[in-house]
Amino acid sequence: MLKNLAERKGINIGCCVNNRYLNDKNYTETIKREFNIATPEYELLFKHIHPSKGKYKFDLADKVILFAIKNKMKIRGHPLVWHHEKFGLSKWIIKGKFTREEFIEILKDHIRALMERYKGKINEWNVVNEAVDDNNKLREGVWLDNIGPDYIEMAFRFAHKVDPKTKLYYNDYCIDDLNKKSDAVYKLMKNLLKKGVPIYGIGLQMHLLEELYINPESVEKNIMRFKKLGLEVGITEMDVRIRKPVTQEKIENQARIYGEMLKVALKTKCNTFIMWGVSDAHSWIPWCYKDYDAGLIFDKNYKPKPAYEKLKEVLM
Ligand code: XIL
Repeated sequence: MLKNLAERKGINIGCCVNNRYLNDKNYTETIKREFNIATPEYELLFKHIHPSKGKYKFDLADKVILFAIKNKMKIRGHPLVWHHEKFGLSKWIIKGKFTREEFIEILKDHIRALMERYKGKINEWNVVNEAVDDNNKLREGVWLDNIGPDYIEMAFRFAHKVDPKTKLYYNDYCIDDLNKKSDAVYKLMKNLLKKGVPIYGIGLQMHLLEELYINPESVEKNIMRFKKLGLEVGITEMDVRIRKPVTQEKIENQARIYGEMLKVALKTKCNTFIMWGVSDAHSWIPWCYKDYDAGLIFDKNYKPKPAYEKLKEVLM
């Protein structure tokens, strides 16, 4: 039971939860037993929840949120604003011919609709997801192209207005250790905070590769610089994907990486450690990266992997 150990250490431990698997007992029992925080995997994405202008479809997100509440789990909302055309956005907005003012209204309406629907249930939100691209510039896409760079601060300010009590996060990938992208995000956060933008914390997605060395000291320094800005830090989407063929040696190395990252998270007092799934039976890895598999801490039969044992050991 990771959650009992984690609670004693003052950190939340969890996973993303997908409504499609909620009738699978292995899936739900594992989540209930091990985790105390859930993120709906895709149900809150614009594409699914806002299928036409001003019309919202909450049924799938409601299912996941109800499951989490029933099982006394905290909920992290993900995300309010994302550029991703394939996963994130609906055609009506990608192709939409609107003025800048109308885009701003759509953004605000979207934030208002989701936050009000789940007020008091979702108490932390990834407000803006992946706004920095792989060249460390603000990422092009519907929001930046039609509103301009201000869309980021607008989103935070507006979310804060809707519910001043909710903890608002910026979330991104490849910003786990010290590198050019985390430098860019650090600068972005620093500037926004200087302007008084209500950002509560930063989410490090931590989608890692078993074959790539990640230096725990560098992760620690990175987390600490965000903390020095006054931000809370959470690990929000961790997995450690393994290049096929998956071998015992790689599985052991994966366990080491999980353990080291949790150790750093505890040392730096991160508030959450969320993994992007429960078991290797259901994970985005094989469908997004065809040469990779087995990124999570339970195997396809929900048997704990060495990574699970390692997390337990670190939490003891
Ligand atoms: C993945 C999910 O697993 C899918 O279900 C979803 O449709 C989109 O892609 N960074 C993110 C997540 O912020 O939303 C992504 O999730 C993984 C990468």
